[in-house]
Amino acid sequence: MAERVVTLAGEADVAGFRAEARCMLAQRTAPEHVSWQVARRDEGDLFGVGHDDASAAHTPESSSRVNVPAFFVALCERAALHGDPNRFGLLYRLLWRLVHEPALRHDPLDADRMQAELMARAVRRDMHKMTAFVRFRPLSVEAGDEVQHVAWFEPDHHIVEATAPFFARRFAQMRWAILTPERCVRWDGHALAFGPGAKREDAPQADAAEQLWLTYYASIFNPARLKLKMMQKEMPRKYWKNLPEAVLIQPLTARSAQRSGQMIEQGASEPAHRRPASSSALRVDQRVAVVHAPGTLAALRDATERCRECPIGAMATQAVPGEGPLQPLLMLVGEQPGDQEDLHGRPFVGPAGQLLDRALVQLGWPREAIYLTNAVKHFKFELRGKRRIHKTPAQQEAAACLHWLENELSLVQPGAVVALGATAARALLGRHVAVMSERGQWFTRADGLRVLVTLHPSALLRMDAGERDAAFAAWLADLRQAGAGPPQAG
Ligand code: URA
Repeated sequence: MAERVVTLAGEADVAGFRAEARCMLAQRTAPEHVSWQVARRDEGDLFGVGHDDASAAHTPESSSRVNVPAFFVALCERAALHGDPNRFGLLYRLLWRLVHEPALRHDPLDADRMQAELMARAVRRDMHKMTAFVRFRPLSVEAGDEVQHVAWFEPDHHIVEATAPFFARRFAQMRWAILTPERCVRWDGHALAFGPGAKREDAPQADAAEQLWLTYYASIFNPARLKLKMMQKEMPRKYWKNLPEAVLIQPLTARSAQRSGQMIEQGASEPAHRRPASSSALRVDQRVAVVHAPGTLAALRDATERCRECPIGAMATQAVPGEGPLQPLLMLVGEQPGDQEDLHGRPFVGPAGQLLDRALVQLGWPREAIYLTNAVKHFKFELRGKRRIHKTPAQQEAAACLHWLENELSLVQPGAVVALGATAARALLGRHVAVMSERGQWFTRADGLRVLVTLHPSALLRMDAGERDAAFAAWLADLRQAGAGPPQAG
């Protein structure tokens, strides 16, 4: 029968366990004489309680040095967070045996060691899943208040404290909270605070912005690439209920076999409304246009429509001209029209455009006040079945289109220009631009035009859900800076 009851401060009190275990080893208390339990937490305010479970009761005097193998320290760090209530008993027994049976250090197949290893592995996996599947949603706030982001997650083990530093590093600029049934953690930009568990209803529900991500997710879903077993291994079903995109997995996967079959049967198809390919006479015309640049936007539009200086024009439905007022404060330059832009003949009307619209609303900038265009005027894609999948234009293709963009700049005469992404930045600045390191900076061209570089909205759409909010906030900051105008020279 156990003679000693050890009470740890919490389920994740690994430091407390280590200190108590050392203490009992020093006192030669055999594992069968110890029972381990965890103190019930006082139910307090969410985040009202202390920051750390490391118990202050364990002074250096209360334990003496024991020679513990390094592998056990690492193993204990993770296995102690397992959901099994007997884990502390197992770990203390293993520690005791490692000290008293030296041969055990060389026996990785020992049953106690193997069980502890399995527990540690399960905890590591749970931590990994938490880093991958936490989805923050913005809390609605009063105008002027800082947006808080809240996520709901249901871990299998006691991993909140151990995983929280990852989110603090990754989303250092954001104010966020992760709610779980057992523990909650909040980051205020400076420190992590832990509190008791919460209910799923405490986390915000989906909003309109989330619908946008879902539309995008559905639009990039490629049934031919679906590896269901692999997907379920990486994203087990139990996480689906808290993943916004998971509502699409079932309908999309259910249709995928049928859709892949149709793709194979139908073979490649062509865009529905492609304009007739231009004749060689038009090509000559167009070369003339290069020399005598169109003097109006309407003429420029016709000329780009006929352009066959690179192969893209012959594939697209139509050229997509820029749109917006003359002499605007800002011109935003994207890469090239996407699928929707190609069909509608207007820039930024597909998923990337919707994200841009959302940014413009948050900035309070009417879309009509800004001139929107692209570095390349036709949609470049590859066909996968019936689907037209965006392809980045090659450098020669962007170079072939450059004179149209320069022509447009001279007609529109914007106050300043924002390059959205690497293709636009290269076209505007005439050199390779490392977008992530040069973003948010103003550059002055030889003709005096000021250009600010930032990310393309599609880059934000491609990010993990966990990264998007912070990335969107940083993107807004870049655009806001562009709206404030370049610093005056001198
Ligand atoms: N991406 C772009 O770069 N431009 C558009 O018009 C749409 C998507």
